[in-house]
Amino acid sequence: MLTTKQKTLRRFWYATVRVDSIASGPKAFTLMGENIVLFLGKDGKPAALEDRCCHRTAKLSKGWVDNGEITCGYHGWTYDGTGKLARIPQFSVETPTPNYKVKSFHAAERFGYVWVCLDEPLAPIIDVEEDGAEGWRRIFQFYDVWHTAPLRLMENSFDNSHFSFVHKGTFGNLNAPKPERYDIEETDYGFFATTVVKILNPPIAYEVTGTTDPETVRTMRNHWYMPFCRRLDIEYPSGIRHVIINCATPIDDENIQLVQLLYRNDTEEQCSTQKLIDWDAAVIAEDREILESTSPDAILDVARKIEFHMPSDRPGMIMRKRLLELLKENGEEEVTKAYA
Ligand code: FES
Ligand SMILES: [Fe+2]
Repeated sequence: MLTTKQKTLRRFWYATVRVDSIASGPKAFTLMGENIVLFLGKDGKPAALEDRCCHRTAKLSKGWVDNGEITCGYHGWTYDGTGKLARIPQFSVETPTPNYKVKSFHAAERFGYVWVCLDEPLAPIIDVEEDGAEGWRRIFQFYDVWHTAPLRLMENSFDNSHFSFVHKGTFGNLNAPKPERYDIEETDYGFFATTVVKILNPPIAYEVTGTTDPETVRTMRNHWYMPFCRRLDIEYPSGIRHVIINCATPIDDENIQLVQLLYRNDTEEQCSTQKLIDWDAAVIAEDREILESTSPDAILDVARKIEFHMPSDRPGMIMRKRLLELLKENGEEEVTKAYA
């Protein structure tokens, strides 16, 4: 599936940049092949515009923001957060400002990120009940560009048979390659998948898992939010919960920005923020290496891709089915360059 060619996928929210990164000026971002500029408007809320001045096409992200308005760095045309031209500095005060506008997109702040939806939203930004809740802390783990497709990232997030192989350097057990059963319940937003997985618990992970046992288990409650968000709630026998939120934001047809947030119900004294960042950085570096070696054109022939490696419900197959249904409901066909 070539993400940027599917109009329906423009109707979902994606996490772009950290909101504090636009506090001092505009920032460029590419979302589904669209060059956009992000800044804080007059109301202090994020604004997203096409990154192109409607005068002589300079990138607005090269300009600056003052009092919630963005000024083009070429000749100073100035726009408000809706993209409406507010001023042409060469005009005298008597000359009316022409009624010009650059394209604007839906933008909102959530969980410390600016989320953007390019067309009319089909679903809200995901809800994270732990965000701001008592007894929980939020940790910004990563926002990195990966050379892969968002569906590849999502499939991998529900593929338990990769643990033994990809994660043999962290928690995976190469001697136990058969994954546990995954139970999947389809929902209106995607699906909810549950399983219990045995893992290795090396000393470096003791504070992460809350136990010094050499092996432990993860009770995993894993949600897929169409098309490219997931919530993985891991519970350890120690009572520690490790809730990972991912958004695989499509940049273009070959690259994503992977955003990862973590919520924990323990304290800094029990496990430091740096430890949690370093631990998941090591885990995710293993995923990254293998995912970047796969084809980013995510839908391959079903016969080749069928999940023989999964013993029960097959999450990747369900994702494919649901996304094709979603496209169909919105009058679209799948676009791919490597179907066979
Ligand atoms: S190109 Fe932006 S003001 Fe001229
Ligand atoms: Fe993984």
